[in-house]
Amino acid sequence: MKEDPDNKASHVTPYGQETEKKEQVARMFDNIAAKYDFLNHFLSLGIDILWRKKAVKLLTPGNPQTILDVATGTGDFAVEALSLKPKRVVGIDISNQMLEVGRKKMKKKKVDETVEMRYGDSENLPFDDNTFDAVTVAFGVRNFQTPVKGLAEMNRVMKPGGKTVIIEFSQPQTFPVKQAYNLYFEKLLPGVGQLFSKDNRAYTYLPESVQAFPHGEDFLDLMKKAGYKNTKATQLTFGIASIYEGSK
Ligand SMILES: C[S@@+](CC[C@H](N)C(=O)[O-])C[C@H]1O[C@@H](n2cnc3c(N)ncnc32)[C@H](O)[C@@H]1O
Repeated sequence: MKEDPDNKASHVTPYGQETEKKEQVARMFDNIAAKYDFLNHFLSLGIDILWRKKAVKLLTPGNPQTILDVATGTGDFAVEALSLKPKRVVGIDISNQMLEVGRKKMKKKKVDETVEMRYGDSENLPFDDNTFDAVTVAFGVRNFQTPVKGLAEMNRVMKPGGKTVIIEFSQPQTFPVKQAYNLYFEKLLPGVGQLFSKDNRAYTYLPESVQAFPHGEDFLDLMKKAGYKNTKATQLTFGIASIYEGSK
């Protein structure tokens, strides 16, 4: 029998099996929140910024006025979504420390009237059905305890005709990108991440969670299972990451 990719990823946790994944993920992001933005841009050589820009552009035709950014962290995707000139963006996350960094960022950028940073769990979203015109999530779904549940919740709170865009790491398949990526992700990144973040596990959990997580067609299957229509996957930078789209 084919292993359920959803379950496989759910068993990859930051600190072992003693507590549930959700609690561990929140704790891990609380631990690295202060250094998250710096490490993100440094370790990706700034490419993550271009990926968010590209993903947000896919929402332009729908002209969304209300956008939910799930697993918003410090709010970089929420800020990028402002390029669409929406009336309101809500970012939700289960890490209070990430949200705190994000709230300061919104104040500094003078966008705190438009962007609300709010505590909330993707698997039990505190919103009514059909609330938002669009939903975004970058590098979040892989961390959910039950990804398909989070995806179904995102679909539920989106208005009919609305669109979701998701960025997630994938696994490049071609030589020599695959080899270079594995070397970087498994050998270099954990060391550098540990040095700066002071969390021994965060940057070894990262490649482990990516390895265990479905990508490409397998991820689109999860989206379909969660109720999405018109699903589509587009590879970014030789397949290091992918953008997934789906509508309601
Ligand atoms: C890698 S960060 C990504 C942050 C941001 N989207 C970005 O692009 O930089 C992943 C975030 O997902 C959040 N997260 C994980 N599971 C979650 C859940 N069940 N509900 C809401 N947020 C969650 C974590 O707390 C963390 O802030």
